[in-house]
Amino acid sequence: MAKARTRYVCQSCGASFLKWSGQCGECGEWNTLVETAEAPARRAAAAGAAAAVQRLDQVGADEAPRVASGIAEMDRVLGGGLVPGAVILIGGDPGIGKSTLLLQVLAHTQDRLRTLYVTGEESLGQVSLRARRLGLPRLDLPVLAETSVEAILEALGRERPQFVVIDSIQTLHTDALDSAPGSVSQLRESAARLVNHAKAKDCTIVIVGHVTKEGAIAGPRVLEHMVDTVLYFEHDIGSRFRIVRAVKNRFGAVNELGVFAMTDGGLKEVGNPSALFLSRHEQPVPGSVVTVTRQGTRPLLVEVQALVDQSQIGQPRRVTLGLEGNRLAMLLAVLHRHAGISLADQDVFANVVGGMRIQETAADLPLLMAALSSFRGRPVANDLVVFGEVGLAGEIRPVQGGEERLLEAAKHGFRRAVVPEANRPRKAVKLDMDVRAVSRLSDALDQG
Ligand code: TYD
Ligand code: MG
Repeated sequence: MAKARTRYVCQSCGASFLKWSGQCGECGEWNTLVETAEAPARRAAAAGAAAAVQRLDQVGADEAPRVASGIAEMDRVLGGGLVPGAVILIGGDPGIGKSTLLLQVLAHTQDRLRTLYVTGEESLGQVSLRARRLGLPRLDLPVLAETSVEAILEALGRERPQFVVIDSIQTLHTDALDSAPGSVSQLRESAARLVNHAKAKDCTIVIVGHVTKEGAIAGPRVLEHMVDTVLYFEHDIGSRFRIVRAVKNRFGAVNELGVFAMTDGGLKEVGNPSALFLSRHEQPVPGSVVTVTRQGTRPLLVEVQALVDQSQIGQPRRVTLGLEGNRLAMLLAVLHRHAGISLADQDVFANVVGGMRIQETAADLPLLMAALSSFRGRPVANDLVVFGEVGLAGEIRPVQGGEERLLEAAKHGFRRAVVPEANRPRKAVKLDMDVRAVSRLSDALDQG
């Protein structure tokens, strides 16, 4: 096959060069030149075709029919199932369970879709061994051990599968480029060809990508903008629970979570994940506050913990796990300014139980209450949930989905809640709960 011409394109300013160099001659940035294949044939065809402009109201807006993946937690993260023609990138550390999960999904969709599992990492013998160990509903899965993109596309054209898993993108290489498999240019070019195939043939393609130590460079991040959906595996080191999070989804809510447990028989769904993220103290302990966070469309109970201790060094430490560090520093400043409580000479450590990561502001108030509870050595009642954003003026701001959060807490036996004034539940909502609505930080802290 003839080699496509390659260019070295600056990732910062877009200038292109015939030769690689360490510094871009245009913008002066270092290490930004990346080998890129030129595709003159495609360009010419596009220029020749008449481009028809349409009116939006005359364009058919049929919801793409979705195919259930057969695994409810997976359907939830995907926003309701597999969409024909969609490309899904699934990333995560090596060994976290990507291949296992996808093999399970394939076996569950096998009776509804023509599937194909392409492995570039493991031999077919290894895949077969794993499939047997997993006790899959079906074992007659079509598999292909191949790493050449051209060969894979040829197989896709021949077999015409509707659902394909590529495991993994890092092992693929295309003849169009000379660079090594796993390099950014190979990754991009291989993915681009797979995306083209998916769109042209209405085939759902799942691309597995390892997140390497260098993360941003050789990892799947460079592919995020090319695909429709990006899922990442998260886990707590040493824990058997795995969280699959949608960080981008053209067909569903972002931040949607699926929760699984790794067992001897593969990944099992966890139907009621709220219980996982609470540490269930027998007695109330200082520094622990339960909150309801909203991950995608799902309200989830999690425990926020703080440890406040006299600092031994000149500059006290602010350490967070699962929460944002800058936010903690800001909240402590609000605590000082608007509630008159200074933790300036104290180390503050904050953590979310179970390896959960909270990115929303609803954890502000519970975090401050946990810090204060630890500082004073005074526990917060263990049937209390708290949520609310704290503003710089010391006000408690509302969060989305307040009623939903309260219902989830009530379902798990919580009897008291401290919530923002604007999230006070409507009369119509039947809640067997004592809900205190607050509008100032000072009022909220009195409730703890
Ligand atoms: P794998 O799916 O190979 O990870 P990835 O494709 O993300 O690299 O997962 C491998 C890990 O999962 C390995 O450490 C063993 C464990 N595992 C189980 O605990 N139970 C099982 O049934 C299987 C298949 C794997
Ligand atoms: Mg794997």
